[in-house]
Amino acid sequence: MMSMSSSSTHDTPVVAPHRFAVLVSGTGRHLENLAQLAVAGKLCGTPALVVSNKAGVTALERAARAGVEALVLDAERKLCNTEFSQAVFTAVEARACDTVVLAGFLRKLEIPPRWAGRVVNIHPALLPAFGGKGFYGERVHRAVIDRGCQVSGCTVHLVDDEYDHGRVLVQRWCAVEADDTPATLAARVFAEELAALPEALHRLWSGTPYRPAR
Ligand code: GRF
Repeated sequence: MMSMSSSSTHDTPVVAPHRFAVLVSGTGRHLENLAQLAVAGKLCGTPALVVSNKAGVTALERAARAGVEALVLDAERKLCNTEFSQAVFTAVEARACDTVVLAGFLRKLEIPPRWAGRVVNIHPALLPAFGGKGFYGERVHRAVIDRGCQVSGCTVHLVDDEYDHGRVLVQRWCAVEADDTPATLAARVFAEELAALPEALHRLWSGTPYRPAR
């Protein structure tokens, strides 16, 4: 997926950065983090489009601050999931994006076959535990605490047709402390998420799958 072109004055190939879309429904901290990494030259890609399925969310303000074009699609929920997904990928393809990042995106997205392997999602738990329909936001962390887990974390995975399913790109973990509330655990997990998502994009774009050390 890495695109290469030759400069007219040098023989050294120039690696063109990826263009990605970020799909959001709420806060947009990942969007902001990715935009800042791109500006700092720490990501081999740049956010070219933000799509929100909700109007008036903080993520749209963050997109504006970062200077990234943003669209709100079907906030009134008039489209079925198939029509909505087609609208998303039409917008993404019109901006020549090669990757789609679901970062806090809370609507089912149908992935066209031509996009298989190029759509990633970040989930605030160690999948396949605590994932699937209904496991989002604070509910995930409450379930982890209620179950008595001593470890939690986050997962970045390729998106397929099932919720929170698909090949894992990166997982990072952290302790669950005895006095954790869903909010304190969410904050500890989020610190891991900030590292996991850029690492996963790097792995996806460089074709280096995760292999656990033995
Ligand atoms: C993150 O915790 C992510 O794992 C989950 O939704 C949250 C998104 O946060 N899918 P933000 O919208 O980027 O602030």
